[in-house]
Amino acid sequence: MGDIKLNLNPRMPSVPRPEDKTKINLRYMVIDPYVSIHIYWDEKSREVIYEVEEPLLSEGDKANLKRISDAMREVVNINMMEEEKTQENSLDYIEKTAKLIISELGLSIEQETFDKMFYYLYRNFIGLNEIEAMIHDYYIEDIECNGVGEPIYLAHRVFRNIKTTVKFHDLDTLSSFVEKLAQKSGKHISYSSPILDGSLPDGSRVNATYTTDISSKGPTFTIRKFTKVPWTPVQLLGFHELSPEMLAYFWIILQYQSNLMIVGGTGSGKTTLLNAIAFFIPQENRVVSIEDTREINLPRENWLPSVVRSGVTSGGVGEVDMFSLLRGSFRQNPDYVIVGEVRGIEASVLFQGMASGHASISTMHADSVDALIRRLETPPINLSPMLVNGLDVVAIVSHAIVNGRETRRLREIVEVVRVQADGTALTNTPFSWNPADDKFYFKKESKIFEKIGEKYGIPVEELQREFNTRTKLIYSMFQKKVFGYEEVQRIFNDYKKNPQEVLQRFQVSIA
Ligand SMILES: Nc1ncnc2c1ncn2[C@@H]1O[C@H](COP(=O)(O)OP(=O)(O)OP(=O)(O)O)[C@@H](O)[C@H]1O
Ligand SMILES: [Mg+2]
Repeated sequence: MGDIKLNLNPRMPSVPRPEDKTKINLRYMVIDPYVSIHIYWDEKSREVIYEVEEPLLSEGDKANLKRISDAMREVVNINMMEEEKTQENSLDYIEKTAKLIISELGLSIEQETFDKMFYYLYRNFIGLNEIEAMIHDYYIEDIECNGVGEPIYLAHRVFRNIKTTVKFHDLDTLSSFVEKLAQKSGKHISYSSPILDGSLPDGSRVNATYTTDISSKGPTFTIRKFTKVPWTPVQLLGFHELSPEMLAYFWIILQYQSNLMIVGGTGSGKTTLLNAIAFFIPQENRVVSIEDTREINLPRENWLPSVVRSGVTSGGVGEVDMFSLLRGSFRQNPDYVIVGEVRGIEASVLFQGMASGHASISTMHADSVDALIRRLETPPINLSPMLVNGLDVVAIVSHAIVNGRETRRLREIVEVVRVQADGTALTNTPFSWNPADDKFYFKKESKIFEKIGEKYGIPVEELQREFNTRTKLIYSMFQKKVFGYEEVQRIFNDYKKNPQEVLQRFQVSIA
């Protein structure tokens, strides 16, 4: 390791949401000790601003940094960088190379200045340039750029949509930045293939468009930050997104291969919930997942992930779409098929799969069960009511303001009891969230438990008892602060093998 310390994961402070927006003024470090974020109310524009504070360089230092960067671009061996698997090695490599260049150019640079320059070299050669700081900000969910000269906008966990002071000032810089995003996600973007859907090495999702047409504002990009390690069910409980009963319910319905769809608006937390409750799919089940960009991340071995490959040529040669992937997946004889996001005609393959006994979990954009069913039954999807009937449970997630704070809640769990010939559905809503007191209610008996009971020959009382026991176990895990990915996974697996032992360990009495 070189002399320079760059802490890319400093401790994040907890950020409370102030009652009064005009009083917002806080600072936190995201790349220690070089970069901090300053979020403040700007009286002039009357809005909250997100400012990235990077080290200041004098004009002379900037000129030197440019000379060093130019030389570096010549000598940096890209292949070598790729091979430097660990971040530490790449940082080391950048530092050594920079020092070599400085001595070759005969520059004399003080250590303090070199340290600042080193940050910029890191940022531009290893990191994501102007937005590197935002990538390291735990509070950021989305990063959006709508073209040249446009401020970058963010979705912040606490302050929601805020404007930043960062812009891409010219077409060349923005174009090459978008090319960099493509290269980092192992894809290609160009004039003739102008749309990028990919994932960055840290697991974030990236979408970008490419145009170098001077009459438009140029390329655009959106980055949805994603944690590499998905949140566990117990963590979601910690955020108060849902209740222990709701989790125990998912645990049971997924054990008995029910068909579940998670719906909600954009960014409401559908994929996050899907990843978390996938912990409940029995370990021995074979799971196949299908999606546009890699977001599904399952804590299991018996899993075959596939990602849609978009056309390499304009004629679509090499293209593998959702429809054919899904059709192919059924031949792999999965116990569960997971579809990242259902949008179009692939829904018919999914529902036919359900009808022939392949359980599925998927997400779809819709705000209610009625809206969902309407979308499924009208063009372009056009499913028959009989096929829609295959769906067992719909979970509805949404953004919610609780005590003036932006949060996410699992608003309702709705069971599809029967879809009638006229296309309308009879439903049952066992769980719901009440915005008035921010509490979750268990309202009605589950109809799906009856269905499971019949299909598997289990008395409903037994399922009910199991539900109560698992609710207690999940709550006890939460109280004992058992949140981690591996820990949680192990406990669920142990429970499958030896429930008594796990219950004893968590001091849970059988309901
Ligand atoms: N319960 C939660 N608490 C805090 N943040 C959350 C929660 N659930 C999701 N998020 C964050 O919100 C962002 C959006 O979540 P996610 O991608 O799951 O939403 P989505 O509904 O699948 O969005 P899209 O419609 O774009 O597919 C992510 O950055 C995620 O980390
Ligand atoms: Mg999603």
